Amino acid sequence: MEVIGLGLMEKVMKQCRKPAGRFGRLMARSMNYGHRKCTRWGLSHVSVNRDDTILDVGCGGGKTINTLAERATGGKVYGIDYSEDCVAVASKINKKLIKSGRVEIIHASVECLPFPDDYFDLVTAVETYYFWPDLISNLEEIRRVLKPGGSVILINECYRHDKFEKRNAKWAKLGGFTYHLPEELRGFLRDAGYSSIQIDVLESKNWIAAMGTKE
Ligand SMILES: C[S@@+](CC[C@H](N)C(=O)[O-])C[C@H]1O[C@@H](n2cnc3c(N)ncnc32)[C@H](O)[C@@H]1O
Repeated sequence: MEVIGLGLMEKVMKQCRKPAGRFGRLMARSMNYGHRKCTRWGLSHVSVNRDDTILDVGCGGGKTINTLAERATGGKVYGIDYSEDCVAVASKINKKLIKSGRVEIIHASVECLPFPDDYFDLVTAVETYYFWPDLISNLEEIRRVLKPGGSVILINECYRHDKFEKRNAKWAKLGGFTYHLPEELRGFLRDAGYSSIQIDVLESKNWIAAMGTKE
């Protein structure tokens, strides 16, 4: 990030919010690569069972959907994104799995999920919550679609910490997003009705995984 000019960096950060057009599609693909290590680390905190029904919110270029489908081989993985270009890229990347009925990708916002109550075993959200319009009510909407006993996990490459504040504040300003302390995330999950809340951080990288379960 530091080696590219501020103008380009602003363009990149703005695209993270809602990738659009040719550059947006390129961004979605590059995020598939750029977020893979943090995603793998984050997913190591949840168990994915063979028959699970899973939703990836803000699926971007669709790599996480692909990873989850490799694990839930007898289940189904859905992805939603409010960027039509991301839905297109993610659909292309998961073409074979869509054809076989194991993956479905839908154009939708986290504010109004097009699924019935009590539908998912697991909901994942990688590097996306920063952009959501109303975090607590969006987490409540996710809770609605989780089965009792199902969990949500938010996986992020940045949280508020003194050591990373200068970098994070710059990214947040350019990208127009908000990030939080681990304890604030715990509070949001609690206020949205989750229990068994667990927060894990990898301090050296400034990564965070925040999990909650629907009772
Ligand atoms: C930084 S990208 C991360 C994409 C992907 N999860 C990954 O890890 O590469 C953020 C994604 O969240 C999506 N997003 C942001 N706000 C959203 C909302 N309200 N509903 C659905 N998707 C949203 C954006 O379109 C974008 O694809």
